[in-house]
Amino acid sequence: MSEEFSLTKMNRPKSPMIDMDKKHVPVVKAPDSVKAKEPFSVSVKVGGIDGVEHPNILGHWINWVELYAGERFLGKAEFAPTVTTPEATFHIILEAPTELRVVEFCNLHGLWESKKKIDVK
Ligand SMILES: [Fe+2]
Repeated sequence: MSEEFSLTKMNRPKSPMIDMDKKHVPVVKAPDSVKAKEPFSVSVKVGGIDGVEHPNILGHWINWVELYAGERFLGKAEFAPTVTTPEATFHIILEAPTELRVVEFCNLHGLWESKKKIDVK
């Protein structure tokens, strides 16, 4: 059996997803296409896929999410256990078609990434 997660490498969802993926993968909501140089919203929620929520307790929680356009850092949101939920909305501006990357960190299960392509016109 393969490992469900890695503490030394970036985790990405398996196909088909297992529960470990469903509660750790960042779910990204953003338009498929935007206008160049016009701000738009990118919302991120970690986990919850098919109702499989990540724990949010002392000792096991989503510590942060970071948003990138390719390799370029765009923003970060940090969370505290039990009192914040692992969700954030960023307002960003793009000039060219980009692959957004969202990376999240779970203190027990490491780094998880998801991507979304945005067309810019
Ligand atoms: Fe976790």
